[in-house]
Amino acid sequence: MSGSGTGYTSPMHESRLTLARPDDWHLHLRDDALMAAVLPHTARRFARAIVMPNLKPPVTTVEQAGAYRQRILDALPGGMRFEPLMTLYLTESTHPDEIARACDSGFVHAVKYYPAGATTNADSGVRDLRRCHPVLEAMQERGLPLLMHGEVTDPGVDVFDREAVFIDRHLTALRRDYPALRMVLEHITTREAAQFIAESPSHVGATITPQHLLMNRNAIFIGGLRPHHYCLPVLKREVHRKALLAAATGGDPHFFLGTDSAPHPRQAKESACGCAGIFSAHAAIEFYAEAFEQAGALGHLEAFASHHGADFYGLPRNRDTLTLKRKTWTVANELDFGGVPGVPLHAGKSLTWALDDATHP
Ligand code: NCD
Ligand code: ZN
Repeated sequence: MSGSGTGYTSPMHESRLTLARPDDWHLHLRDDALMAAVLPHTARRFARAIVMPNLKPPVTTVEQAGAYRQRILDALPGGMRFEPLMTLYLTESTHPDEIARACDSGFVHAVKYYPAGATTNADSGVRDLRRCHPVLEAMQERGLPLLMHGEVTDPGVDVFDREAVFIDRHLTALRRDYPALRMVLEHITTREAAQFIAESPSHVGATITPQHLLMNRNAIFIGGLRPHHYCLPVLKREVHRKALLAAATGGDPHFFLGTDSAPHPRQAKESACGCAGIFSAHAAIEFYAEAFEQAGALGHLEAFASHHGADFYGLPRNRDTLTLKRKTWTVANELDFGGVPGVPLHAGKSLTWALDDATHP
């Protein structure tokens, strides 16, 4: 799978790393001023991104997705190229005709399933996937991928077990009952998920975030409660982080890059009921480079970041490249989130890979 764009040779001596330009297969861009503030971070690094539909109200129709897409393009600073790949938010009243419209639109690339109440802005999510049978049938037939927030919301199930229980209770049956449905288990966090996906046919894949590769659940509690390390699915034990790292760096095309970068204003995170979501777009590919290097697998970064996702979605791999250079730099303590401050992942800490300014001013 080694691509023509790979400039990487040896971890000890190489100071530059050139990849086919990567894509982000799971991203929250929000809307309005917040979107305008965070979008350039992504567009500097990625050619395309699968844009999550969990706005308020959610993006449930092709018409809304088209309007949202246009707002994203309008917010893009002059001279930057970036292609938003839109998604629809699945509800129990989504009609199969909407799937046909999505496939014909050319800009809707997937449908997102949130179990009702599972995460930020998931109130309109689905209580029972069986109610969506005609829609899932239409998606299976037309080849439109179902992207899943794979957690049960049963209050009797421990928060740390919700992904593994989702696989047992729902995903196994879903894979059996819709054998040709293209599915992505988003932001996987457990050994169980990595194993399930690795054993699945090639039309079932998974995205992995930088935070789940770099941190285990201790990061939520180091020296006190750390709201900026809280996301859903929540960080897990070290054994799971290691399993995810092995999955991401192993060259298996089931696994691809999806940051789940999810900006929330500082105030909304540092609150008595802080919301879930970690912002990583300011250094997304740099974080992955850090994780892959720690695993001694920088040579596999390009496949994970730039090839597997495009192949899964049936889109061409990007022809241009992105270059990283070995340079220590410090992440800002705070970023502008559209007139309010936001705290980026790794705030105030240093990273060892940077965008090469010579190629990406
Ligand atoms: C996301 C958000 O803030 O929109 N939060 C998160 O913790 N990942 C929603 C999601 O993807 O679950
Ligand atoms: Zn998300």
